[in-house]
Amino acid sequence: MSKYVALLGNTPSLSFAELEAMMSDSTVERSSNHSAVLDLDSDRQASQLQEIVGGTFKILKILFQLDQRAHIASNQIAEYLQTKEGKIIFGLGNLDQNNLTVSPQSIKSKLSENNVRCRYLEGEPWGLSASILTHKSNVIDLLIFYYQQQLYLLETVAVQDVDEWTKRDRHKPYVDAKKGMLPPKIARIMTNMALGSSIEIKTDVPILYDPFCGTGTVLMEAALRGCRVFGSDLDSSSVLGTQQNLDWLAKNLEMKIDYQLFESDSSHAHEYDWSEKVDVVVTEPFLGKPNPKPAELPNIFEGLESLYLGAFKSWLRILHKGSVICIVFPQVVVSEKSKKVEYNLLDLIDKLERFGYTLLVKPIAYSHENAMVKRQILVFRLH
Ligand SMILES: C[S@@+](CC[C@H](N)C(=O)[O-])C[C@H]1O[C@@H](n2cnc3c(N)ncnc32)[C@H](O)[C@@H]1O
Repeated sequence: MSKYVALLGNTPSLSFAELEAMMSDSTVERSSNHSAVLDLDSDRQASQLQEIVGGTFKILKILFQLDQRAHIASNQIAEYLQTKEGKIIFGLGNLDQNNLTVSPQSIKSKLSENNVRCRYLEGEPWGLSASILTHKSNVIDLLIFYYQQQLYLLETVAVQDVDEWTKRDRHKPYVDAKKGMLPPKIARIMTNMALGSSIEIKTDVPILYDPFCGTGTVLMEAALRGCRVFGSDLDSSSVLGTQQNLDWLAKNLEMKIDYQLFESDSSHAHEYDWSEKVDVVVTEPFLGKPNPKPAELPNIFEGLESLYLGAFKSWLRILHKGSVICIVFPQVVVSEKSKKVEYNLLDLIDKLERFGYTLLVKPIAYSHENAMVKRQILVFRLH
């Protein structure tokens, strides 16, 4: 086992919850707002993990401890780079902007003194971007990292494939901006949180169901995670659009996707002809309209509460003991008479407990900047 560091994306708490769910057998430690330290067997295992997760944009290996004095640390880094073959192209980030200021120039000078050809690429505090690393091979991406009061040198061993994520986000044939769509990375994180928390998946190919499938974002990510996917929606054009998106994905990646789609109100989901029980539900239900007037909010949330309760009741008939639900709850905060008033569905947690659903992961906030209706992501297990 060696120590690795995962750099967490734009929603660090959610990214961390994803890693925790996926690495339930080993330790994952939050080392700073944007990083987590993990124990992994090998660089290969790091690459396999990176391919699966949505919330981590790169994984780095902890190489060795650095001296706290800049000139000695520069020498240590130069010596490490000299072990590499050919012309050296490197980046050097300093994640927590700690007090150690190692100038890339001093590393270059040291390398030139030893007749080693090198080039430095300017990056960000977290090192070179995933895009540079995806498109340029043979680039060495180093990072100075402060952990448990010591400084360490890290090297990137796996990076998120930005092109594949962008393709699924922007180039799928059916979109419906009016209804709101989950970004694929959030859909993937939710899928992983559900699969990782599920204790009783009966087969190698888990059955995942999204009862509010919209454009099929969750189903696409779940299919890529090897699930058999089921989706339904009240709206027939969403069902048709989801089918187009799943077929597009299958064609693009030359893969077979085992899916079933149907039109249904979420409270009648159990009436479908289910031949097997569902292992996980991952879903972003209807969240109310995007810009509600404050006076409308009590009624809207009352309506949403019965929509969600009806859905959870229906799922009791299609889930098995141990099935997991990862779901988005809406949240709106408004100022009323100079006081902040919050509308959410968190009162449902106690009611759902009475049905047999236990809360596994407390609400984690996720929202687009400036969105009036924010999202809270929760995980339940049926016991
Ligand atoms: C927020 S959208 C889901 C978007 C989806 N996550 C995506 O990324 O494309 C909510 C979906 O719930 C559907 N819906 C609304 N009320 C419903 C109900 N009672 N039963 C089933 N689906 C419903 C809407 O048609 C809409 O497609």
